[in-house]
Amino acid sequence: MKTLLPHFLLFFLLFVATMGVSPEYTRPHPRPLIFRPHNRSESEPQQVHISVAGKDNMRVSWITSDKKVKSVVEYGKTPGKYEASATGESTSYKYFFYSSGEIHHVRIGPLEPSTMYYYRCGGYGPEFSFRTPPSAFPIEFAVTGDLGQTEWTASTLSHVGARDYDLLLLPGDLSYADTNQPLWDSFGRLVEPYASTRPWMVTEGNHEIETFPIIYPHGFRAYNARWLMPHQESGSTSNLYYSFDVAGAHIIMLGSYTDFDSNSNQYKWLRGDLARVDRRRTPWILVTIHAPWYNSNLAHKGEGESMRKAMEKILYEARVDVVFAGHVHAYERFTRVYDNKADECGPVHVTIGDGGNREGLAMLFENPSPWISVYREASFGHGRLRIVNSTHAHWSWHRNNETDAHMSDEVWLESLSSSTPCNQINISSTSPNDEL
Ligand SMILES: [Fe+2]
Repeated sequence: MKTLLPHFLLFFLLFVATMGVSPEYTRPHPRPLIFRPHNRSESEPQQVHISVAGKDNMRVSWITSDKKVKSVVEYGKTPGKYEASATGESTSYKYFFYSSGEIHHVRIGPLEPSTMYYYRCGGYGPEFSFRTPPSAFPIEFAVTGDLGQTEWTASTLSHVGARDYDLLLLPGDLSYADTNQPLWDSFGRLVEPYASTRPWMVTEGNHEIETFPIIYPHGFRAYNARWLMPHQESGSTSNLYYSFDVAGAHIIMLGSYTDFDSNSNQYKWLRGDLARVDRRRTPWILVTIHAPWYNSNLAHKGEGESMRKAMEKILYEARVDVVFAGHVHAYERFTRVYDNKADECGPVHVTIGDGGNREGLAMLFENPSPWISVYREASFGHGRLRIVNSTHAHWSWHRNNETDAHMSDEVWLESLSSSTPCNQINISSTSPNDEL
């Protein structure tokens, strides 16, 4: 972790082979990378982040350079007074010349909703705090994808943090480390002030893959070790796809870079997960993917098509309300859509890959705009979904101006579970292999 030179050399050698990003798009005005160095002691926690881990539980994750630090979290509702503690587990990984620190994951709870908790990791270092999500509406999600770690990222994060929210959804492409492992550590430090105070729920993008022939053929080595999500708690056998409930919303985080065809584990898990949803308890269903199924930008055109063909029908029949995607470095909102046509019972698709990564913006859109595309703009920013009650939610997109976030798009959404023409839920209990 001390010297970056070998990692940068390796990064350049591997760059073209592993990126999966087309170079032909002009993406103006990327801003410089921010590298956050480690400035705490070897035993103190760094890169602290939290995530929802089953009903009334939270997972606290952090890294220490000292491998002997215990995976224990002390916590309570008063600063400095820790009435409870929990012990978890730790892991580490190697990637060529790089050895990670000790990565700790501790599940704490049961916790009360809408409550501030104060906590300390491993018995050392500063006190952190977070607020648990509410148990009922209203609830507000911040949404941003393709985040990276540039000055634009810092701008987006400052706008996210400037207004209260309950939970952040990140539809893939986190650190843009792209095999340069110290950048994973730097990213963890950059986001810690936000990710240690509100749950960050993420799914993987192409920049998380980091495969290398023969040596690391399966990929996701850093991502799975560092960003453990509640897949076991949601019956998934892979950290690359999972679901969770918060307030009255069921959130499904799908994986664009693992198998999704009708014989795959992900497909079978998704069918089972949707079949278990009780819309009286969770009237809203949100889904995140990385490569968008609907996209009128020339960047990454068609890359989500095979996944759309495999999975769109079961999401449609389950009356999923919104699908968030990343990957394309721009913002785009579609009308309710199914099978490439406007459909009042289909989800609203939103591309929000505009977090601020080093590659810059995807400036080229199809012309004329397809009429199912309602609003599109190549600017960095973030989105907010405020679910007000079981029937209505407000979606807004906030462009990064130089010093503030400007709301540039907004729409009121009605839950499909309350929409009279659409509220017949059609998920059947047939075999996952049956033709739907
Ligand atoms: Fe991507």
